[in-house]
Amino acid sequence: MKQRKQRRRMKKRQRMAMLAVIAWIVFGAVAALVYVALSGEGDDGVTVEVIAAELSEEAIQGEALFKANCQACHGVNAAGTKLGPPLIHDIYNPGHHSDKAFYLAAQIGVRAHHWPYGDMPPQPQVKEAEVALIVRFIREMQEANGIVYKRYGG
Ligand code: HEC
Repeated sequence: MKQRKQRRRMKKRQRMAMLAVIAWIVFGAVAALVYVALSGEGDDGVTVEVIAAELSEEAIQGEALFKANCQACHGVNAAGTKLGPPLIHDIYNPGHHSDKAFYLAAQIGVRAHHWPYGDMPPQPQVKEAEVALIVRFIREMQEANGIVYKRYGG
């Protein structure tokens, strides 16, 4: 008789523990959802305000190439979209991402490492000489927005 009562009490305690675990899981999931919704990442991505620059002849050609090949992800004026990061961003100042990073990005793509967007697929349709023009466009836009060479790590 006494044993059965004890067993019942044990069962009750187990059930309470189980409920506590479930409550924590639900709480965690809701907290994560609220965080994603509030931070704006996840569905909107990161975008920045970009001032349009007065562009050189080369950069104007680069802008057209950028529009055709990169803008879908990197956004109008490279200000970012929900598919790709803004390139008019201090992370991409020439001391941190040299022009070579652009040639490599077009040639072999980019493994996700700075942002939560995922990998950038290679853009082999864009030839080296065209990347050079795109780089002119990005660098002139960066400069107009106060993004200038900073030594890596500095
Ligand atoms: C399908 C979407 C997509 C397209 C199209 C695209 N990119 Fe990207 N790009 C990304 C994403 C996403 C990243 C960020 C990866 C990370 O660092 O997390 C990225 C990163 C980069 C980087 C940073 C490279 C590095 O070393 O960190 C450069 C430079 C770049 N893109 C240039 C370009 C250029 C130039 C074009 C057009 C020729 C282009 N991208 C087209 C999605 C895209």
